[in-house]
Amino acid sequence: MDMKKMAGDKAAEYVKDGMVLGLGTGSTAYHLVNAVGALVKNGMNLRAIPTSKATEKQARELGIPLLTIDEVDHIDLAIDGVDEIDPAFNAIKGGGGALYREKVVATLADEVIWIMDESKLVDKIGAFHLPVEIAQYGSKQAMKKMEDFGFHPVLRVKDGATFVTDNGNYIADLHLGAGFDIADVKEKLAGIVGVLEHGLFLNMCKRMIVGTTAEGVKIIENASK
Ligand code: 5RP
Repeated sequence: MDMKKMAGDKAAEYVKDGMVLGLGTGSTAYHLVNAVGALVKNGMNLRAIPTSKATEKQARELGIPLLTIDEVDHIDLAIDGVDEIDPAFNAIKGGGGALYREKVVATLADEVIWIMDESKLVDKIGAFHLPVEIAQYGSKQAMKKMEDFGFHPVLRVKDGATFVTDNGNYIADLHLGAGFDIADVKEKLAGIVGVLEHGLFLNMCKRMIVGTTAEGVKIIENASK
């Protein structure tokens, strides 16, 4: 079976009746959303908050009852994909450009599960670019600051045009290299006007659910949660 589907299907086993659920974005979360749709079809009572317009559309088509982020004061469980994650549960997300909503949802959740195929497990994060959501207004200024810090930002382009997030902003993809100083980059980004959020999701998840070819689904629990 597809490793991403394995992980998405397994994660759906953690979804319980009555939950308010955060639904992630991307090709792994796609399988999760399908599995949650099946739970709803079989009579489970739950409500969900999607982390992107794409996930919202998929969830609506499956008949999953939806809430907006400002209609809730907490989320029971958020399940989402990742781009890279290290053994200390430090993750990079935002490859699909949904990092802002994903972070709002994850920080409001009592419990977070990241789902992935085995290629996402790394010793040190940073080989994958770090997505940063920036405001359109003054974006060149923010890009220059990131360039000055040596972050090698590249403004994301899709289908020949500057990529615009569901929130109407741009994405700068930083090329930092594996093993970059996470605390330093996080602090420097926080000081740049126009940076709205970054794709560092540090020690947020309670467990990773990993689809592997050799061992099927592997569950890695975070002892610190
Ligand atoms: C979207 C994300 C995704 O969760 C991340 O890019 C992983 O995607 P995929 O499951 O397609 O590999 O952060 O913003």
